[in-house]
Amino acid sequence: MASLTDFINLSSKPLLWSAASIFFNPIFWNIAARTEHRNHFLTRIFGGAYNGCYVLAVIIFSLGIYRDHLYQLALEDQPFYAPVYQPVIGGILFAIGSVLVLSSMWALGVTGTYLGDYFGILMDAPVTGFPFNVTGSPMYWGSTLNFLGVALYKGKVAGILLTAQVFVVYWFALGWEDPFTAEIYAKRERERAKKQGGKRQ
Ligand SMILES: *[C@@H]1O[C@H](CO)[C@@H](O)[C@H](O)[C@H]1NC(C)=O
Repeated sequence: MASLTDFINLSSKPLLWSAASIFFNPIFWNIAARTEHRNHFLTRIFGGAYNGCYVLAVIIFSLGIYRDHLYQLALEDQPFYAPVYQPVIGGILFAIGSVLVLSSMWALGVTGTYLGDYFGILMDAPVTGFPFNVTGSPMYWGSTLNFLGVALYKGKVAGILLTAQVFVVYWFALGWEDPFTAEIYAKRERERAKKQGGKRQ
């Protein structure tokens, strides 16, 4: 008879580390960005909003690389399970995810990708072209697809479980971030409207 341990090893340490990093990253960048927005500590430490944002970008990017590394280690420590071994579908999902992630970075630029709005580096207008005409959050859903793609490519049930965690964590992160950034831009619109009104008088 098949047992649970045939397709998943829940007592794996690397699995726990991977899950921890999936939780940690979005929490870290949201807290860092909100703190910056409140007191501009990064702008002050690094002598300018752009410098601060670039430093945060390097940190977030590195944490992302490390999270991916921990994910690889976690999957290596898991049993292979043939029914979820779907290398072609996995490869396609990974390719789609990568297109979404890379094209949104390209469309947003460094400061747009890495929370520049919290530093007061606002975009002139919302980006509406590809991939933002496919989904409002191409970076998050692209990244989720990458996790799923790797899980299927390697035939690891635990990878699918970690992907579900990525999905849920990003879902909450979006619910936390979107209203906050929307308010940053709404505030600018109010200030613009005020200036326009002032000019007319
Ligand atoms: C999104 O924009 C791209 C490039 O402008 C276009 O080729 C594509 O068909 C659009 N997709 C949707 C779903 O509108």
